[in-house]
Amino acid sequence: MSDDLTSLRRETDAALAAASELRAWDAIRVGVLGKNGKLTALLKQLGTASPEERRERGAALNRLRDDLTAAIEQRRASLDAAAMDARLAAERIDVTLPPRPSGGGLIHPISRTMDEMAAIFGAMGFEIAEGPDIESDWLNFSALNIPAHHPSRQELDTFYLPAASGASPPVLRTHTSPVQARAMLTREPPFRIIAPGRTYRSDHDATHSPMFHQVEGLALARNLTLGHLKGCLSDFLRAFFGLPSLPVRFRSSYFPFTEPSMEVDIGWNRRTGELGGGGDWLEILGSGMVHPKVLANCGIDPRAWQGFAFGMGIERVTMLKLGIPDLRPFYESDLRWLRHYGFNPLLPAMLHEGVGA
Ligand code: DAH
Repeated sequence: MSDDLTSLRRETDAALAAASELRAWDAIRVGVLGKNGKLTALLKQLGTASPEERRERGAALNRLRDDLTAAIEQRRASLDAAAMDARLAAERIDVTLPPRPSGGGLIHPISRTMDEMAAIFGAMGFEIAEGPDIESDWLNFSALNIPAHHPSRQELDTFYLPAASGASPPVLRTHTSPVQARAMLTREPPFRIIAPGRTYRSDHDATHSPMFHQVEGLALARNLTLGHLKGCLSDFLRAFFGLPSLPVRFRSSYFPFTEPSMEVDIGWNRRTGELGGGGDWLEILGSGMVHPKVLANCGIDPRAWQGFAFGMGIERVTMLKLGIPDLRPFYESDLRWLRHYGFNPLLPAMLHEGVGA
């Protein structure tokens, strides 16, 4: 190889070795192989050489071009690899370090209760269903066997919204029960759902808020019985309150959408407020076998399918479980209250032993 080619090779190798980042590398590439690069210039000069010279020098130049191209590409690859190593080193996270709570957000007790309900009922095969806060009169009342002049409509302090002309006014749902109607109208039985969410009644004092939360439950299958309902709710209550021997009592009652209907009580001590076998009973939720009229209203054949349903107040069970005495602070966003009753978001909702087994 003639001297000028040898020195171009040496010069390029040295420059490549010294190039520590992509911009320097690219300047070398352009300076050698580019339109005005050194090798390109040598190739252009070939035209002025004699035929023998051209053959020999042309072959040498082609080899040099191949070698330089390879050397340049190789340097690029090693620069890329070094850049990746540097990035990986810079972005390294030690996942074995303990998490550091930032002192920021906590889970609100209402959300926490909903998460625990989802976990406990989820282990029993219930899916989460949803419905809107603004509900039609039909879904909130009529589909659930609460006709227009039914007394239970007057007992509820319903928030009515402006009606479209000629239509009955929509309402802020007074319970989560319309979600069971929605589920029957849209799902193929058998299914099991729970529907936690906001509900509204025009009522405000120490134990009532115009907005509060309920969870509705519905299981629909062939040959479902009161026994299934009792087993399901007893298991839930014992798991939720973490008391495997919590006394649970089913007491005959009335709801328009269930027949028979039952209210469910748990054992407690009225004097101390402690839950368990204290000799007193505390009403905690409503339940029953879905009324055949409700099934039929929602397009389900009552001769082929049975359902059990239940509904309970989320604030109420949360207050009982955590010993929270007053309802109002739930909605006041007082940081001192939230710091006291909130839950660390880094800790999973604890399930009590035996759940899901
Ligand atoms: N919707 C009732 C309420 O707001 C609660 C309820 C009772 C729901 C019995 C049900 C049920 O599904 O079967 O107070």
